[in-house]
Amino acid sequence: MDPTPEARPAPTQPGEWRGIVLITGTDTDVGKTIVTAAIAAAAQAAGLRVAVVKPGQTGIADGGPTDIDRVVQLAAPHTTRTLASYPEPLAPLPAARIAGMAPLELYEVVDAVRAESAKHDLVLVEGAGGLLVPMGVRPSGEAWTLADLATTLGVQTIVVARAGLGTLNHTALTLEALERRGVPAKVVLGAWPAEPELVHWANLTELVPHLVGALPDGAGRMEPGVFQRSAPGWLTPALYGVLDDWRVWADEAAEPPA
Ligand SMILES: Nc1ncnc2c1ncn2[C@@H]1O[C@H](COP(=O)(O)OP(=O)(O)O)[C@@H](O)[C@H]1O
Ligand SMILES: [Mg+2]
Repeated sequence: MDPTPEARPAPTQPGEWRGIVLITGTDTDVGKTIVTAAIAAAAQAAGLRVAVVKPGQTGIADGGPTDIDRVVQLAAPHTTRTLASYPEPLAPLPAARIAGMAPLELYEVVDAVRAESAKHDLVLVEGAGGLLVPMGVRPSGEAWTLADLATTLGVQTIVVARAGLGTLNHTALTLEALERRGVPAKVVLGAWPAEPELVHWANLTELVPHLVGALPDGAGRMEPGVFQRSAPGWLTPALYGVLDDWRVWADEAAEPPA
């Protein structure tokens, strides 16, 4: 099997993803934060004013860097905001309940994101975990998810996915859930391995029609200057990058590091 995909990225307009873009994933730990930082870096290099919003940060009790800390370190966007932080490493709504803290209210988040949108060219909003994780409560007391935020704001969504075995099912489930809600969505691979195996090439070929980017594994550990210079090469023009041929990208990804 010729491992490199023939297809070029789906035709997109340069900078198509403007305004407000939600970043979700097929799961937790798939690379949402690193991908958010890469899109922010590429958009800023293209001259946009970028804000990054994390509505619900959980797991702060362990004292490690928050998602926004990592985005600031890697991409230094113009503005960053975390709207609520909870100690336990859980989905935001259960984390709020267990801590006896106020849960995130949907319209509070909608207002905060719109306020940043009025002041920036691009607002990236990073969810928590996957698409249907309970984020907080509506005025009715019902839980809301990132999918509800997307439909309420009427905005498009990037799904960050793994590159390896299992990703086709998780990605299809997430895209189907978004499609049935009428939310336009594309996919970015969070971490393409340095030594891809057959399964990675097969997944890449399957996902090419949806893909608007793929980050190399190790991107999150790069020195910030290198990260910012490299980010446009991982993203298609729709996301302010220069990646326009997966075959060329695959050849470069396969090169041993200099
Ligand atoms: N491209 C990448 N290069 C290096 N590390 C990565 C990459 N993508 C994800 N990681 C690592 O995997 C973990 C999860 O990534 P993160 O972006 O925080 O995922 P999420 O936001 O989806 O939970 C982190 O420890 C991060 O450093
Ligand atoms: Mg994250």
